[in-house]
Amino acid sequence: EGKALKVSENIKQDDTELTFKWKKFFEYLYPYLLQLLIALSSAMVVAVLNIWIPQKVGNVINVLTKILSSKEHNAVKNVLSQLTEPAFALARMYVAQALFTFAYIYMLSHVGERIAMNLRQDLFKSIIMQDIAFFDKNRSGEIVSRLTSDIQDFKSTFKICISQGLRSTTQIIGCIVSVMGISPQLTAAVTLSLPTIILIGFGIGLFQGGTNIFLNGILLCTLYFGGHLLSTGQLSPGELMAFLMATQTIQKSLSQLSLLFGSYVKGISAGARVFEYLEMPPSPMMVSGEIITDQSLAGNITFKDVKFSYPTRPEHVILKNFNLHIPAGKTVAIVGASGNGKSTIAALLERFYDVNNGSITIDGKDLKSLNASYLRGNVLGYIDQEPILFATNIMENIRYGKPDATNEDVIEAAKEANAHEFIMKFSSNYNTQVGERGAQLSGGQKQRIAIARALLKRPSILILDEATSALDYESERIVQNALDDVTQGRTVLVIAHRLSTIKNADIIVVLQRGVIAEMGTHTELIKKKGLYYTLVNEQDKENV
Ligand SMILES: Nc1ncnc2c1ncn2[C@@H]1O[C@H](COP(=O)(O)OP(=O)(O)O)[C@@H](O)[C@H]1O
Ligand SMILES: [Mg+2]
Repeated sequence: EGKALKVSENIKQDDTELTFKWKKFFEYLYPYLLQLLIALSSAMVVAVLNIWIPQKVGNVINVLTKILSSKEHNAVKNVLSQLTEPAFALARMYVAQALFTFAYIYMLSHVGERIAMNLRQDLFKSIIMQDIAFFDKNRSGEIVSRLTSDIQDFKSTFKICISQGLRSTTQIIGCIVSVMGISPQLTAAVTLSLPTIILIGFGIGLFQGGTNIFLNGILLCTLYFGGHLLSTGQLSPGELMAFLMATQTIQKSLSQLSLLFGSYVKGISAGARVFEYLEMPPSPMMVSGEIITDQSLAGNITFKDVKFSYPTRPEHVILKNFNLHIPAGKTVAIVGASGNGKSTIAALLERFYDVNNGSITIDGKDLKSLNASYLRGNVLGYIDQEPILFATNIMENIRYGKPDATNEDVIEAAKEANAHEFIMKFSSNYNTQVGERGAQLSGGQKQRIAIARALLKRPSILILDEATSALDYESERIVQNALDDVTQGRTVLVIAHRLSTIKNADIIVVLQRGVIAEMGTHTELIKKKGLYYTLVNEQDKENV
């Protein structure tokens, strides 16, 4: 039943048409108005040049035909001397066209990149201010694609629509004006024959190749009527040439506009998806609640009569009557088969979810009264099996733990995490790119980066959720050494897969179906010959 409800919710979500928020978009555009204006004017200049160039080419042709038809004695010499002027004018225009094209492309990419960067940053901020319920509801692939490909699509559409859209429109208008200027009769003749050409083109289009027929039809038409006007002296060869070039420009611009329309639709819907997430209000727990600035919490943790079920499955109670005290500076290990609620305890401590009944306190302060972003950013350090690394360099990946940390802070944290040494062995040290999802690093290296990231917050409490269980034996040893160092003097909640790693914990808790089945030190629990004893024996057997 619960599943059916969820599915129908999803459908409803997909059905709601997202609208593109122009007002919001202009807020992002506004700071770059000047650059945009420069880009726009450069694009206009290019368009105007594209209108002028056909006329200049026409002039050159006219000079040529005049000289050649005059049958003068020293025709070649005359050609050279008379062509110099129009040819140079043409060359100047080509150079200007290249320069202004570069200017507007450069400016537009600059503006586009800046806006994309700002969008990405704000979107990221907006996403991390959401409840975990948001992440349960939306697939992570979807969230990531809004941050990456949607912004990418939006950016390229923005650039292409402004540059080509403006240029094409100006060219179409300009060229229409100029063909009418060159020869109103020829313009009228071609325009009047357009319906026939379109009809024939459409008919043949059913068998493909329609556009080609259409384009060639215009060309033939122009040559036919133009040739006629040429023979009666109403049109010069240069004018015919200019006319042909201008109609070609109109055709090219029209087909560019129709291509642009597709990309515009795609970009606008990508933009709408970006703005949808951008406008989500932050979760109340992230913006309200106490932030303790004058002291750091000691890390006395108490779970009292905690009852919890996930919001998506309220009938499935994960923890019931859960009581646990972790004294400041002590290490508590939670063990038990998978699915028994170990990670859920960590999630509750991070306040990814609020408990249904009972309370969790740190130093006597109820988690619900603390600001969640302060809690995660300053009090708790969380390391799980597989850290999420971003496709940037090591320095930034560690700094992600605390965005305002200095390079020195980052290096200090890396040293404590036993990561500094291997990082310095890379040729670019801290500037080494880690690749998509940290593909360039080994499991043990990634995990030490995760530790450094957590340490950067100077947390009084560390949560290690099977932090070494994805590693091979050798990496596990190295990472475990690093962990043993950094857990000194901190309150630690360690969830362990391999029991050998938690022998020295101050308290070991065996969790079974959401309740504490056994609790004590390693020696006590072994003596008891209960669940823990069985678990240890099972693992020893596996390892033989
Ligand atoms: N986000 C979630 N939404 C709904 N149920 C969940 C969620 N995460 C875990 N569970 C369920 O909670 C129970 C305990 O899971 P978990 O705390 O991850 O166990 P462990 O870490 O001991 O393997 C499991 O039955 C699991 O299916
Ligand atoms: Mg788990």
